[in-house]
Amino acid sequence: MPPSFAPVSHRSARLVVLVSGAGTTLQALLDACGRPAYGVRVVAVGADRPAVEGLARAQRTGVDTFVCELANHPTRADWDVSLADRIASYQPDLVVLAGFMKLTGPAVLSRFDGRVLNTHPALLPSFPGVHAPRDAVTHAVRVSGATLFVVDAGVDTGPIVAQVAVPVDVDDTAQTLHERIKTSERTMLVDTVGCMLRDGYRIDGRKVRVGG
Ligand code: GAR
Repeated sequence: MPPSFAPVSHRSARLVVLVSGAGTTLQALLDACGRPAYGVRVVAVGADRPAVEGLARAQRTGVDTFVCELANHPTRADWDVSLADRIASYQPDLVVLAGFMKLTGPAVLSRFDGRVLNTHPALLPSFPGVHAPRDAVTHAVRVSGATLFVVDAGVDTGPIVAQVAVPVDVDDTAQTLHERIKTSERTMLVDTVGCMLRDGYRIDGRKVRVGG
């Protein structure tokens, strides 16, 4: 993983966001990008399936969209290369997985080494995988939260950039907990991505230092 990424200072930083569903996390980024001081532009939104609300949110904001479906490719490796090509055509400074429910492969990761971020609805390394809020409720933890991390070849294992803690109520369901997490998660994501792009960041083993 390359160690340091300079601030993007002479122009608006370029973000490609990947989604699979409702896109409320994407919406928070789109809203932030509407403020000139944020200094960031979502240049494209991609999805692994058509007709999801996340794509519609992008289209309503006038942002380019693309769909790259696994089922339309002979192998997962072909899909990975196609996805990498689609992302690369927008020359992003960062790629944000915002509720993208597929694992990105080696083509995407090698092309954007250290520049693919994922947001996860739990305090990693607890509760990796696609059912994090359900797993937290089942385990009856009293605190959960969200984690922003740099994607590596593992499942939710990459270097952690930021985390936010959220209380868990004894009567929470997976859905009520996830909604509470998402409220804090959106703010953390928007704030941290803005800082990473405006101030630069360095990856030093598992440690990610933003700015300075
Ligand atoms: C977010 O909570 C995100 O952390 C989670 O999906 C939600 C997206 O919500 N991602 C994962 O679980 C990835 N493993 P949204 O579609 O409303 O933005």
